[in-house]
Amino acid sequence: MLLGVNIDHIAVLREARQINDPNPIDALGIVQRAGANQITIHLREDRRHIHDSDAKNIIDLSPLPINLECSVNPDIIEIVAKLRPHRATIVPENRVEVTTEGGLDLNEPNFANIDKSVHYLKAREIETSLFIDPTIEAVRAAKTIGVEWVELHTGTYSNIYAMLFSNLSKTHHSIDELSLERSKLKLLLKKELTRIKEATFEAHEFGLKVAAGHGLNYQNVKEIAKIEGIEELNIGQSIIARSVFTGLERAIKDMIGLIQ
Ligand code: PXP
Repeated sequence: MLLGVNIDHIAVLREARQINDPNPIDALGIVQRAGANQITIHLREDRRHIHDSDAKNIIDLSPLPINLECSVNPDIIEIVAKLRPHRATIVPENRVEVTTEGGLDLNEPNFANIDKSVHYLKAREIETSLFIDPTIEAVRAAKTIGVEWVELHTGTYSNIYAMLFSNLSKTHHSIDELSLERSKLKLLLKKELTRIKEATFEAHEFGLKVAAGHGLNYQNVKEIAKIEGIEELNIGQSIIARSVFTGLERAIKDMIGLIQ
């Protein structure tokens, strides 16, 4: 199983303070030394975390291949074509969302825009992927477009898992539509896992490479990693969140050493 580490979340912290620290570029060597296989970033239309200069520097300096997530906005596609990352993953984008909330809508007129963008990028020798919901219909549409990869959205699985097996439901970020009895949530979780397995199987039958991601963490990743046919996971939030705590003691000691 390959691991792509999504380092946007480092830029989120930098942008919260609007300064130059922490710089996602400093993560490149660490991600490589830790044994991950790829670095994933998302150049959003609103530039809320990764900026154009970050994307350029990361692509130019990364020892690992870069998977650049992007929308089909023509200006963004043009930037991606010029940056020439190893792979471009087309994702849906909505300005008010906190994070990518679902897979691509592959119905017209979106289908035509996605198809055009994929062919534009492929002509520039950029590997292409579509971030899709784990459904047979979405896999078939992706096959028609001719991408090399699909990335299955695991956000629904992760949300159900968190409502069942963590304290999320007791917090102010509880998910209203999943405020259900545990028996119902267990059934939903089983159904969602089956959907992911079936979509993986279908994609594999079509000769597509299969990645998965969104909301995967130290609790819920095992069930997804077990699915035969998934070759790669892209994980960000949970890894960066954990690194805050695995690194906090050292960071405090370094500061005490300086001020003593
Ligand atoms: N894959 C895609 C296509 C994404 O948009 C994201 C979120 O930026 C991820 C994976 C990683 O999700 P998370 O940060 O929840 O691990």
